Amino acid sequence: MISRTQVGIVGAGPAGLMLGHLLHLAGIDSVILERQREEHVIERVRAGVLEQGTVDLMTDAGVGGRLAREGMRHRGLYVAFNRRRHHIDLAELTGGRTITIYGQNEVVRDLIAARRATGRPLHCDVSDVRLDDLTSTQPRIHFLDRGGTPRTLTCDFIAGCDGFHGVTRPSIPAPHLQAFERTYHFGWLGILASAAPSSDELVYSLHERGFALFSMRSAQVTRLYLQCAPDEDLAAWSDDRIWSELRARLSTDDGWRPNEGTITQRGVTGMRSFVVEPMRYHRVFLAGDAAHIVPPTGAKGLNLAMADVKRLASALETFYRGGSAAALDAYSDRGLRRTWRAQRFSWWMTSMLHRSESDTAFDYRRQLADLEYLVSSRAAMTSLAENYVGTPFE
Ligand code: APR
Ligand code: PHB
Repeated sequence: MISRTQVGIVGAGPAGLMLGHLLHLAGIDSVILERQREEHVIERVRAGVLEQGTVDLMTDAGVGGRLAREGMRHRGLYVAFNRRRHHIDLAELTGGRTITIYGQNEVVRDLIAARRATGRPLHCDVSDVRLDDLTSTQPRIHFLDRGGTPRTLTCDFIAGCDGFHGVTRPSIPAPHLQAFERTYHFGWLGILASAAPSSDELVYSLHERGFALFSMRSAQVTRLYLQCAPDEDLAAWSDDRIWSELRARLSTDDGWRPNEGTITQRGVTGMRSFVVEPMRYHRVFLAGDAAHIVPPTGAKGLNLAMADVKRLASALETFYRGGSAAALDAYSDRGLRRTWRAQRFSWWMTSMLHRSESDTAFDYRRQLADLEYLVSSRAAMTSLAENYVGTPFE
């Protein structure tokens, strides 16, 4: 079975789904292919910090209704070390910009509902996705649909929104791409707990035993993370051990500590910094995690993906309206500038707040000095705040 579309989108994460929606609003047709089942895509728990640019994009695209009702707007955050919490007033330092806490899986849920409402194709549970004819003006995607029937999709453009482990990037001949990578010798053990958040803002903490993060999903659900080994065995972590480690790393001398409750979800995430240049090969464009990965400490992953697809959708719209390819030609360079800025910030937050095996007592003292400077200098706090709330999307 052969069909055609204007834009073939591989991957139904936030990037692929938002791209499909923006193209729909511009009257451009697309087909989205996703290898996981729809429920799996919706239930995947990931970071949930939305920059203003992401909130505005969702609102302007008409998919921000639930976000406006249920998203939790935060004007600041806390940084903790030496058993003390220090407030950073993001809004005051950035002329009123804020962040919104809204689970990434909720973003995906809203985007899938919007896609279904348009009636445009979203094929989940597909397999054996292969790309060919990538240098022609009609690149193709072959796949097996969920019933196992072989299908071919002829496209004007292909958008690789299939994440770090996707098929699009490896389909581009290696000499055309340059990869930049840094791995970290730690990961995050994350939990969701049925417990009312005990702070109204996030707490990023450096402790002698490692990093910990206090976050939330709703008035009843707390989200917490602990630095652990990248291949940490979850079986070694009883609920008691998790809570006692969180208490040790997060409690401060003012009596603050996270509320505890039933743990409803747990998982370990690895960490890496990764960029591929350029983000384009002929008519194939990479967006989101397919093109770049940041460690979660700066909460930039979702926001970078959203900035990519906004730029890509607008460039495709310009192309289809008047035939100018200038914005498509600028897609990669513009994206890489934003990406490297986010890479630097995420690396900096990560190295300031985590302990590495190779670290000496000197390194820990230096990290504490870094944090001490951060919370006592308005210039340093402004630098964090500006990057954390994110620069406006183009
Ligand atoms: N064929 C079809 N779909 C694929 C394939 C494939 N060969 N390989 C991967 N996928 C799908 C994955 O199952 C996933 O649903 O592509 C999707 C990619 O989605 P994400 O990993 O969520 O990536 P992206 O949409 O770029 O979102 C970036 O997600 O991982 C977080 O931290 C990251 O917040 C960032 C955001
Ligand atoms: C989350 O709420 O999941 C979260 C918050 C901040 C981060 C990462 C994850 O930096």
